[in-house]
Amino acid sequence: MTVQRAALVTGARGGIGAAIVARLEADGWAVHGVDVDDGDLTTREGNRRVVEAAIDRFGRLDAVVPSAGFQHVAPIPDFPEEQWDKLIAVLLTSPFLLARYAWDALAATGDGRICVIGSAHALSASPFKAGYVSAKHGVLGLVKTLALEGAELGISATAVCPAYVRTPLVEAQISAQARAHGIDEAKVLEDVLLERQAVKRLLEPSEVAAVVSFLLSPDGRGITGVPVPIDLGWTAR
Ligand SMILES: NC(=O)c1ccc[n+]([C@@H]2O[C@H](COP(=O)([O-])OP(=O)(O)OC[C@H]3O[C@@H](n4cnc5c(N)ncnc54)[C@H](O)[C@@H]3O)[C@@H](O)[C@H]2O)c1
Repeated sequence: MTVQRAALVTGARGGIGAAIVARLEADGWAVHGVDVDDGDLTTREGNRRVVEAAIDRFGRLDAVVPSAGFQHVAPIPDFPEEQWDKLIAVLLTSPFLLARYAWDALAATGDGRICVIGSAHALSASPFKAGYVSAKHGVLGLVKTLALEGAELGISATAVCPAYVRTPLVEAQISAQARAHGIDEAKVLEDVLLERQAVKRLLEPSEVAAVVSFLLSPDGRGITGVPVPIDLGWTAR
């Protein structure tokens, strides 16, 4: 009997994570979706627990998709230091720990995939997002290193880098951005969030999930060590 390919997806209750779980299941993957109740990804124990649970459940692990995250918007002098630590923990250290703990299982398949949900903010900065931008830029360094070390083991690593996606994370930012910039919430979407995008619309979570689906598919195997932007023209400028 052929054993289904199995994936671990973090942030599975979130807008993008839930769409990835649904898409991979529709593609025929066995998916272990986890969120904060299954393990606090700011801790080593939380990261270890979710990897072990996925391997225990399916007896194998072929792909890891770190999608947990949050945002904090504040100018540098007011940026809370504990929020900096937490952003780095969830957005950068967690993907490293997940890869580390899953490494042997991914190598055992001969075709392991790590696909981190990065951001257009992995390639370009915005004011008031020091922690998020720094963590997302760091993820690109991690992905490049994972790709180099994973090459001989058949492990590929990529960072999908979306522009703004219609999720609770973005909806929460609209009021925070309004406070930081001192403008109406109604103007935030048009003048601040979408200011950098050539195409003035939000991405849908399903569009991000479709790219993850391709990267995890047999045809996506050659893409490794790179960001994969879905940025509506953001970085073309
Ligand atoms: N929404 C966007 O516009 C957008 C754009 C580019 C990149 N991203 C990235 O996509 C990923 C998913 O974002 P989303 O929009 O789905 O956000 P979301 O807020 O809808 O979901 C994020 C999920 O992560 C979980 N999470 C947060 N901290 C955690 C912790 N310590 N332990 C375990 N789980 C934790 C939350 O509970 C939540 O369910 C994030 O990495 C985000 O940075 C989002």
